[in-house]
This record gives sequence, structure tokens and C-alpha cells, in this order.
Amino acid sequence: MAQKLVPPRRWGSLAIGSERCHWRPCDGSGLRAFTYFATVAEDVSKIAIIGAGHVGVTHAAGFAELGHSVAAVDINKQRVAALRRGEVWFHEPGLQELLTRGLRNRRVTITSSFVTALRNAEFVVVCVPTPSTPDGTLDDSALRAAFEAVRRHSKSPPPIVVNKSTVPVGTGDAAAEILEQSGIRVVSNPEFLSEGKAIDDFFHPTRIVIGARDHEAGSRVAALYERLEAPVIITDPVTAELAKLAANSFLATKISFANALARVADHLGADVEELTRTLSLDPRIGPGHLRAGLGFGGSCLPKDVLAMEHLARRSSAPYELFAAVTAINREQRTLVIDHLMVRLDGVRGKRIAVLGASFKGGTDDLRESPALAVISELAAGGADVRIYDPSVRVQLEGVLVSPSAMSAVRGADAVVVATDWPEFSKLDLGRLRAAMRGRVLVDGRGLYDAARAREVGLDYYGFGRGGRQRPEPGTGA
Ligand code: UDX
Ligand code: UDX
Repeated sequence: MAQKLVPPRRWGSLAIGSERCHWRPCDGSGLRAFTYFATVAEDVSKIAIIGAGHVGVTHAAGFAELGHSVAAVDINKQRVAALRRGEVWFHEPGLQELLTRGLRNRRVTITSSFVTALRNAEFVVVCVPTPSTPDGTLDDSALRAAFEAVRRHSKSPPPIVVNKSTVPVGTGDAAAEILEQSGIRVVSNPEFLSEGKAIDDFFHPTRIVIGARDHEAGSRVAALYERLEAPVIITDPVTAELAKLAANSFLATKISFANALARVADHLGADVEELTRTLSLDPRIGPGHLRAGLGFGGSCLPKDVLAMEHLARRSSAPYELFAAVTAINREQRTLVIDHLMVRLDGVRGKRIAVLGASFKGGTDDLRESPALAVISELAAGGADVRIYDPSVRVQLEGVLVSPSAMSAVRGADAVVVATDWPEFSKLDLGRLRAAMRGRVLVDGRGLYDAARAREVGLDYYGFGRGGRQRPEPGTGA
């Protein structure tokens, strides 16, 4: 890696071939730009990325933007073909444009050949999935396959393997042993990208965590990010791997805490939104991940809490906290079904519209989606389910996919809002009520004003937001 001259972040930059030209904004001097172009020595690293998914593509486009040269490899040939055309196979705002820029200026290449991707790599960033198994452990088979590919195809000098995949804690060390026999060092570098704002998270990380047994390898990985402003923590691999699980488990705990509060609020006639707002103003608590509702899903939070529970059990440490977080989360879905059973006098044959299928607004990702769980349960219970989601094209047996929210709710006995897409918050509740046959509205994401919903004649339920009518002052009700 060549020593470099880093221009300040506020300077503009333009990639020309493998070089990069930097200029000061508004200095009015094209000459100055060319002068700088002639003298800048760019610190380009050659990075291979294994797994061109949500994490892999974001890192490919992001590292390219930081000036590195990136080759991403994936076993899925269709995805590779689409990505080469600049088409990102999942919904992530801004990523398509960033990837296209990387492809055009040749800082990014996409391939299905491990030989091509790994040929000149100084770093191999591993971003393959590690899904949960039923007992809460993580399936690391894709990870092991990726490590094996590195061992087989890497050339001398050996690359540093940077693991982004969430791993069974301790895998860093185990894998390091396998690869180190071939002179390949492994560094753990968990990602904290949130879907829907992955690009912003990449360029403005809250922290960069690096777990390395070899300090020089850790420092070289840290240098990949040196144009970003963020605290860098270099620690041992096990601590780094736990840092990811701990962060996601804590976020999940906040959500389940808010949902437990919502249950109490429902019982006492309090308002959970006002309650969590008072909590969030305490800087020791903070505002994030305190929205009560249908609970958490996605590829990370559910599996990371399960993994924490598993590790706690294995360590004879208190695991009940993590088990409770998962249990509360699952109960949220059951509450919706139970509520509909009571309000509709059973769901069989009832027409129920579900707005949202993805695990949260702003993504088309269905992994561990609470919305999808509710849809499946209603369909299994014999309901006539109509769904609408702005970005998900899902096909489910016995479920009709509607082209818009209003067409989904037309003639419905009940409507469940299951995902927090911004367009759902803008729905006109009066029109919604008029289009429905019945009047039950389950606001699974706290998007509406309970009083307004009741005003237009809806039988409204929102978790902790007035499921029970507030007692009238003085009535003792
Ligand atoms: C990532 C992580 O790597 C995971 O451990 C973390 O917990 C969540 O984020 P993600 O990028 O979301 O996974 O997964 P996905 O979008 O499914 O992409 C993974 C890609 O890896 C897919 O394109 C898949 O085809 C590819 N893959 C999978 C390989 O290239 N090799 C394999 O052996 C398996
Ligand atoms: C999460 C972490 O935020 C990110 O740092 C990590 O790297 C990957 O996992 P993501 O899975 O994209 O990101 O989703 P996130 O925004 O955390 O939401 C997870 C789930 O919790 C969603 O289903 C969302 O609807 C739900 N949620 C979130 C709530 O129910 N209430 C909240 O207040 C926040």
C-alpha cells in the first residue's frame, strides 16, 4: 500500500481511470486542480469482497468511493449479472447510483470467479450470510466455504481476511488457525449497517470495531477507513465478535422493553408514545429503538439475541434476559391475531388487509419479518388476506397482492398496518374507513393518532396507544 497524501474531506474529488483528482470548492482554478492531480499519491488498496448482498454491495460501492479498487464475487450468477449492469437486486436507497459510479470509473468489478476476484487482493472482506439454526447457534457453512476459497485461490503475498459476517463467537480464532497455516491473517470487523440507511451508516459510522490477534493486520484494516471520521477500536477478535451481538441485543432489548411498557400502558390507559418520549429525553437512555409495535425482525436482531442467549447459557451466565426479549417480541404478533379473533369473532372467511410485508419500512427484505409472520398466520387461519407493500413483490399461497394500499383495504373487515412505510402514515383515515366493509384497524407500527382514528369511526388498536379507552376523569372506570 503506497503512502498517501489525503486531501481534506471537504475537497471535491473526481476519479479518472485509476487516479483521482481533488480540488478545493469555489477556488475558481482548474489549473490548481490539475496541479494537485499531478502530485497526489492515492492510497489505493485492492479489496476482494465475498458475498455481494446487502452488506457486500454496500461495502464494494463504499470502499470504491473511498478510493480503493474492489472486486466483488458471489456464487449466485443471476445476481452477478444484474450487479454488472448496475442493478442492485435489493432495495437500498442510493446504492444503485453509487454502484453505477464505481462500475463506470472501474473501481468496482463484479464477478462469479473466485480466481479473478482473489488474484491480486490485499484484503478479502467476507460478507456471506450466517443464519440462525433452530437452537440459536449460527450456521457458518457459507463462511467456512468462503475461507476455503481464500485459502485455495489467494496468491502471494497472502491477503488479510476481514470478516464482516456475524460469526459464532470464537470463529475468528478457529478460522485464523486454519488460514494462518497458509500465512493468511484474519481480522474481525463487524458491520453495523442498518437497512434503508446503509450508505449513510457506511460513510458516517458511529464506530469502527476491529478484532485482531495481529496488531499490524488490525492497523492495516483500520487504514482502509481512514478517510472516515469515527472512533476506531482495535481489540481481540472475540471481543469484536461479541460487540456486534451485544449491540444488536441491546437494541432488541430496548424494543422489547418498549413493548412490555405498551402492555402495561394498555392495561392502565396510559400512552406508550408519550411515555417513551419522556424516557428518550434522558441522554442515558437515548431515543433510538423505543417504538412499541409489532416487534423486531430482519436478518440481524432476532438471530443476534438468540445467539446471545445461546452464549449466555453456554457460559452459565444469566440468559433469561435475552430469552425474555425474544419471547416478548414473539408475543406481539400473537396479540394482533388474538385482537382480530376477538374483534371479528374469528378470522376464518374474514377479509383482512395487511399493509406492509417487509421487516421494516424502506427495505424489501422479508427475512424474519413480523409482518410476514402475521400474514402467514392469518392465511393459515382461513382469513381472506389482501396485502400491499410498496417494494415487496411477494407470492404467498392464499394471499392476494394488491397494487395499492387503498385497493387492499377496499371491502376489508379489518386492516392491519404491519410495516412502517412512510406512505402508510400519510393515509387518509376517513377514506380508509369509507373503503372498508368493517371498521377494525390494528396500528401495528404506531403510525396514527388514536383519537383521529376513532373520530372517523374506526375500531382502533395500537400497542400501548389506547387499546383500552382511557378512563374518563372521575368515573373510576
Ligand atoms: C450479512 C452478513 O454477512 C451476515 O452475517 C450478517 O449477520 C447480516 O448481513 P447480508 O449481506 O445481509 O448478510 O446477506 P445477503 O444480502 O443475503 O447476501 C449474501 C450474499 O452472499 C448473497 O448474494 C449470496 O448469494 C452470497 N453467498 C452466499 C456467497 O457468495 N457464498 C456463499 O457461500 C453463500
Ligand atoms: C440492525 C441494526 O440497527 C444495525 O446496526 C445492524 O448492523 C443490523 O441490524 P436493521 O436490521 O436494518 O439493522 O434494522 P433496525 O432498523 O435495527 O430495525 C430492526 C427491527 O426492529 C425492524 O423490524 C424494525 O421495524 C423494528 N423496530 C425498530 C421497532 O420495532 N422499534 C424501534 O423503535 C426500532
